[in-house]
Amino acid sequence: MFDGASNFSYATDFTFLFTIIVSGFFLLLITFLMIYFVIKYNRKRNPVAENISHNTTLEIVWTVVPLILVLTMFWLGWRDYLKQEAVPKNAYAIDVTAQMWIWSFKYPNGKQTDTLYVPVETDIVLNLKSTDVNHAFYVPKFRIKKDVYPNQSRKLWFNAKELGSFEIACAEYCGLNHSYMYNKIVVMPKNDFYAWVNSEYKYPSEISLAQKTSEAIKN
Ligand code: CUA
Repeated sequence: MFDGASNFSYATDFTFLFTIIVSGFFLLLITFLMIYFVIKYNRKRNPVAENISHNTTLEIVWTVVPLILVLTMFWLGWRDYLKQEAVPKNAYAIDVTAQMWIWSFKYPNGKQTDTLYVPVETDIVLNLKSTDVNHAFYVPKFRIKKDVYPNQSRKLWFNAKELGSFEIACAEYCGLNHSYMYNKIVVMPKNDFYAWVNSEYKYPSEISLAQKTSEAIKN
């Protein structure tokens, strides 16, 4: 928790933590009260049952407090959902195609890869499409996930805050080899990314390799 690598990770983790703390607190409280009442009001200690018709204060408290808590959970989720749905206008667009059982990525200039490369600290929008069945594009470390449907283009945006290589998974069972739909998303320094995407090389590592080779030839 709180080790995410995108602009959405902190808020998502905070909502999750809030929900866990509230749930954990009530799990302990209710379990404790149940055991306590079972002992306190057992037959030996209370041979004659008492009939309590109501307690207005208690009823208001146990309605209003949970109401505030669940509405807070809802509000946290809704606030982040709206942010995730509001794709920035100038986001860098990459087409993502899901098919049984691979992901492929197409950049604005037509370059295509099976690993997703993105520049760091840049708004990226993915246009998600499927050529066959339902899939789901999921980057756990970025706390982003969206279903991908055939005959429908859906958008998912993010801003990667950390350099490195992270897991992409398909999070919707899509047939026999669903579990094969793992890929990597590689977050690169901006300059390296644009140099690579405009180069003829398919893999970014080939750039540095080519640069090293040309330097070696010069020297
Ligand atoms: Cu694609 Cu599961």
